[in-house]
Amino acid sequence: MKISVFKTPAEMGAAAAKEIARAISAAIRRNGGCRMALSTGSSQFEMFEALVREPVEWPRVTMFHLDEYVGLPETHGASFRKYLKERFVSRVPLKKAWFVSGEGDVEANIEALSKKISEAPVDLGVIGIGENGHIAFNDPPADFDTAAPYKLVSLDDRCRRQQVGEGWFATLEDVPRQAVSMTVRQILSCKKIITVCPHAVKAEAIKLTLTSPEVTNLVPATILRTHPDWHLFIDEAAAALTPSETLNKEEYR
Ligand code: GLP
Repeated sequence: MKISVFKTPAEMGAAAAKEIARAISAAIRRNGGCRMALSTGSSQFEMFEALVREPVEWPRVTMFHLDEYVGLPETHGASFRKYLKERFVSRVPLKKAWFVSGEGDVEANIEALSKKISEAPVDLGVIGIGENGHIAFNDPPADFDTAAPYKLVSLDDRCRRQQVGEGWFATLEDVPRQAVSMTVRQILSCKKIITVCPHAVKAEAIKLTLTSPEVTNLVPATILRTHPDWHLFIDEAAAALTPSETLNKEEYR
């Protein structure tokens, strides 16, 4: 595990994008291609803006989408498919992008995507952390056990309120109650995980993720601490509540 703290979200995003590009290139050298999982949300804005400018052999990269609301059309401003298409997929010539869809026959969508992602290992996961400590849409208490790659999940109130707070929805009632999410075990199976998590609203989640005495599904992101190759990128605002002894531990630098 490695922690890198930056003054601003822009500096953090640029550094994370460089590390993501390095990891993609290393996977391409190893396997001839890279399979990666990508998060969305306000926390990823600066990273995507920088990532599309990185010199990467994009035609060798296959992308898997992390999570999407159930019942939300792609035309809605909060759709994560819309987000990824506008901020990433339309801007780089990927080999292939596989999206999560929460429309139509959701169970069939989950099965088809689960089959696709299971065809080979995932080299890299770019995995955000929510205000409630979620990874993808695995809200507390998260299912740490299921071996399925994607599943239907219920969203907790804090997660739904975060989406209103960020301006994706006008009211809490507008936020869907369910989503399709990559599961915790599928996320952990990524050979390398890079987390990008800026902003003061994440300071509590970062503190709990790094300092909870136990890995616990009540703070789902604590499980990232068990991954052999996890690199956390945060800004000073997100780091503000975490003791400096934790941030500066020799083994995290
Ligand atoms: C969001 C998304 C995830 C993301 C995480 C952090 O709600 N479902 O893909 O990793 O939660 O994103 P945000 O910037 O919204 O906090």
